[in-house]
Amino acid sequence: MESEELRFDPDGFIIRSSEICSKELQTMDLSKTTSEVFEKWGSDHRANEMEQAHWSPVQQAFALIPKRSGNYLEIGVGNGYGIRHMATNQFTEGHCWGLDLASSMVTLSKKRTETLQNVTIEHGNFLEWNSPSNELFSLIFSMEVFFYFPKIQQGIDKAYSLLKPGGQLWVLVDYFKENEISHEWPGLLQTPMQLWSKRDYRDGFINAGFSEVGQRQFADSQKKTSLDGNTLCTFGTKSR
Ligand SMILES: C[S@@+](CC[C@H](N)C(=O)[O-])C[C@H]1O[C@@H](n2cnc3c(N)ncnc32)[C@H](O)[C@@H]1O
Repeated sequence: MESEELRFDPDGFIIRSSEICSKELQTMDLSKTTSEVFEKWGSDHRANEMEQAHWSPVQQAFALIPKRSGNYLEIGVGNGYGIRHMATNQFTEGHCWGLDLASSMVTLSKKRTETLQNVTIEHGNFLEWNSPSNELFSLIFSMEVFFYFPKIQQGIDKAYSLLKPGGQLWVLVDYFKENEISHEWPGLLQTPMQLWSKRDYRDGFINAGFSEVGQRQFADSQKKTSLDGNTLCTFGTKSR
């Protein structure tokens, strides 16, 4: 029997090649909003499956982030696995804020962190969000979120404005130009996504004013694709 090519959707679920062909033949329907997609995913098993698919690259990024004091902000917390880790490890002395567009994700992440005194989860759109008491952060982190913003640069600029001098932004994405396998995701999820290249992310950070801009690519041990390293991580520091 011929082995079938396996490919993966944005959250690591296997898509069979027969399924891809039929999907690719369809004209792209991008009629769903990001919040519609993730309201649903927060109400079924997919938020937890995202955790399983994303934990490997997130863990690799967390291991590289220099230990720092102050406050942490996570954009698009999903089921709360990342903010829980930061609140119980790196930011035990600080406060951790989490934000998500989907109320179902907020419910899950609140439950995941309900025993922790140093976590607050809010429901809202990061691009319109006002930081509580004009709080500034020493670390802002997000996994698989920025390409859902209508303008990625707006998200990077906003994050810059919310950082303390010396604070860092870490942005992880699997949907980017050099990761060709990801290009069909807007059609599969029927929702718009912005496709930036590695260079675009780097330039976006520099244009926002970040210094010490760096990039890494993480291979996800669960995704056996032909591409070595399918999570792009871009980070930068706000000048003092
Ligand atoms: C692909 S999921 C990733 C969730 C989580 N970071 C993880 O690794 O499992 C993207 C998340 O970002 C949230 N999101 C998308 N756009 C957002 C925005 N503008 N503001 C806040 N959250 C947003 C979605 O609701 C969703 O929970």
